[in-house]
Amino acid sequence: MKIALTGGSGKLGRTVLALLREAGHDVTNLDRAGERGPGFLRVDLTDFGEVISALSGVRDGAYPDQPAAYDAVVHLAAIPAPGVVSDAATFHNNALVTFNVFHAATRLGIRNIVFASSETLLGLPFTSTRPPYIPLDEEVELPESVYALNKLLEEKQAQQLARWYPDLKIIGLRFSNVMDVSDYAGFPAFDADPQLRRWNLWGYIDARDGAQAVLKALEYQATGFDRFIIASPDTVMSRPNAELVAEVYPDVEVRGELGVNDTLLSIEKAKRVLGYDPKHTWRDHV
Ligand SMILES: NC(=O)c1ccc[n+]([C@@H]2O[C@H](COP(=O)([O-])OP(=O)(O)OC[C@H]3O[C@@H](n4cnc5c(N)ncnc54)[C@H](O)[C@@H]3O)[C@@H](O)[C@H]2O)c1
Repeated sequence: MKIALTGGSGKLGRTVLALLREAGHDVTNLDRAGERGPGFLRVDLTDFGEVISALSGVRDGAYPDQPAAYDAVVHLAAIPAPGVVSDAATFHNNALVTFNVFHAATRLGIRNIVFASSETLLGLPFTSTRPPYIPLDEEVELPESVYALNKLLEEKQAQQLARWYPDLKIIGLRFSNVMDVSDYAGFPAFDADPQLRRWNLWGYIDARDGAQAVLKALEYQATGFDRFIIASPDTVMSRPNAELVAEVYPDVEVRGELGVNDTLLSIEKAKRVLGYDPKHTWRDHV
């Protein structure tokens, strides 16, 4: 596939870019940050003119004009958390960028879109709030920050676009907290104190498995909108789940099996529907 990847210079995007290329796809990174070179286009995604031009392809004589320059769009570009810039700046960037990417892509006839949603819309952070039940699943929509609110609005936008364009597939991946291998040095400290990572039920996503989920979502043959929690298969803790939940969330309803160290951000749906098959754990690196 010819794939336009937004945010390919970022933490998750770098790994996604590498994996998609390894899988044989022709990927162009659209980002405002990055080194000039082949496969990179500097784009301010808040500018609709730039977005529709970038997704139309670059004309330099070597490329014939064609109705759609890309077969698919992977949209990761965003300010990636609350509290990086002001709430208003987070919303203005992320909402505008996503509208521009979704609108330009669908208008150009691109019918395969995968985008980054977030675990944050599952009610995080569980310091000021409590999970509605454990393990969390895709039914939960409880944004507590402007960042998460916008991720939910992006999902709602995607759902309506799927109605406007019945041949569109648009998938939101609710990533947990993204970790590179170099981040695993910090995990023993998490492991020592159950309070440190209670805010997201001790979840994380290895960037390589996050990238695998993007690939599976791109390859998934379907139409319509759907969303999936994407987390690593385990928690950041050595202590068994039953003990952690009893200590930290004694009053929260437990639905189903917790497993010993299984992620409490359920990836059952992503495994079953997309064939998501995470391979990596921090336990192999510390
Ligand atoms: N990092 C996490 O823990 C985490 C967790 C859940 C979801 N997510 C989501 O995953 C995606 C990727 O996150 P990340 O951690 O790689 O973020 P990152 O900040 O490392 O990368 C984001 C990239 O988007 C680009 N970008 C942002 N606004 C842009 C604009 N207006 N024009 C052009 N480029 C723009 C940035 O230059 C950057 O390269 C984001 O959508 C984020 O919300 C991240």
